[in-house]
Parts: sequence; structure tokens; C-alpha cells
Amino acid sequence: MPASSLRLDKWIAGAGLSSRSDAKKLIRAGRVTVDGSPITDPAARCDPASEIRLDGERVAWQEYLYLMMNKPAGYLSVTRDDRGPTVLDLLPPALRKRNLSPAGRLDRDSEGFLILTSDGDFCHRVISPKSGVEKEYHIEVDRPFPEGAEAAFAAGVPLEDGEICLPARLEPSEDRLSARVFLSEGKYHQVKRMALAMGTRVKRLRRAAIGGVPLDPALAPGAYRELTEAELRRINCHFVSI
Ligand code: URA
Repeated sequence: MPASSLRLDKWIAGAGLSSRSDAKKLIRAGRVTVDGSPITDPAARCDPASEIRLDGERVAWQEYLYLMMNKPAGYLSVTRDDRGPTVLDLLPPALRKRNLSPAGRLDRDSEGFLILTSDGDFCHRVISPKSGVEKEYHIEVDRPFPEGAEAAFAAGVPLEDGEICLPARLEPSEDRLSARVFLSEGKYHQVKRMALAMGTRVKRLRRAAIGGVPLDPALAPGAYRELTEAELRRINCHFVSI
């Protein structure tokens, strides 16, 4: 048995996002074939080179999982925390066992696009400022952004602790009470601290895009889906620089 083999029920559950018990039922019902032969034992092992079919449809091997989630306010972007519910609590038990972690944090009161993945290297590259993956935030603030805030963002905003942010883009609305912010790094509470440095306070923050991939508008708060191949490619193309 190859070291990288996987139980058949785990393969089906992981790929189809069905629960492990549903996957077992499908296998026992004789609906799954491995390299052309029906297999009815959910514990049978298969390696990544096997051709697995469910009802005749090819089921791809998935070593890693990549999810796009629309994070609602009120959830922590960590895998476990005693202070309250985490984004993993929004997933069914079968997915909670897939070793998923958030690729970058959103504060408890922040909303929007969060990537959850079991691929640690991908996670690191999404977060690292060296890879230049741009994140787009939509914010509402309690006082209008002052004139000159765009230039300050472009030059690098100095934070209250003296740290200077990398050059970023601020696109305020006409009344300057809301804005789109584009950043390629993720310091602690960065957008809120940049706004404070401009004399205004963030009332609402939503991440709208990562690496040029927009949050799917069909995802209600708390909903998720797998990132498509094309979306992963688009995010991945930023990684050439590191
Ligand atoms: N910047 C913040 O201040 N908060 C977030 O949740 C994300 C970016």
C-alpha cells in the first residue's frame, strides 16, 4: 500500500464535501468504482493515481482543500479559541477534520472573504507581504477621510507605534465616509490603525477580494464553497516573486 494512500470513504467525502457517513453509504450501495471495478468497502485504500468514479463521474484526488468563506461578524479567524465561536464552527464536522486554517485573519467584528485551506505553504504565501497578494477592503468610517489621505496611504502610513506601512491605495467615496482600501500586507488591525492615523475610526470592515479574486456575491454570510481552479491560479500567479 503506498504511503500516500487514502481510505475510499475519505476520498469521496473530501472531494464531494459530503459527510463521511454519506460517503460510506454511497460506496456500500455499489456506486463507486476504482480503476473500473466496483468497490463496496468504505475502508478500501486507494492511491492518488487510481481512477475513482462516483455514478460514472470522475472524482478528483484532493490532497489539499481550499475554501472561500464569507465570514460573518462575531466569529474568530482561528482554529480554536475559548473566547468564542471560530470560523471552523461554521463548517460541517466532515470539513472540520480536514486540517483547515484561515489564510490571514479578519478581526472578530470584520466580515467578508476568508480563505480556509489545509495547504500550509499556500497559506503562508497568501499572507506574506513578499508575495504581494493584494487584499481589497471596503470600510465605513465615523468621520470623513481628510484631504491628502490618499497621498498618505500611497507614501506609507505611519502607525501609532512608529511602524510605517507599505504603500497602499485608498479610494474614498464622494462623501469620504466610506472607502476601498488595497493592501499587500496584514499587520495587526492594520486597516483600523491606518484609518485612526488619518483621524477617523472604522465602523464596518469587509474584505471584498484577495489577489484579484472577488468574494462570490452568491455566498451569504457564513456560507462557503471551494475555490475554483481558475481562482486558485489567479491567486497563485502572485507567488512567482517569493
Ligand atoms: N485590518 C483590520 O483592521 N481588521 C481586519 O479584520 C482586517 C484588516
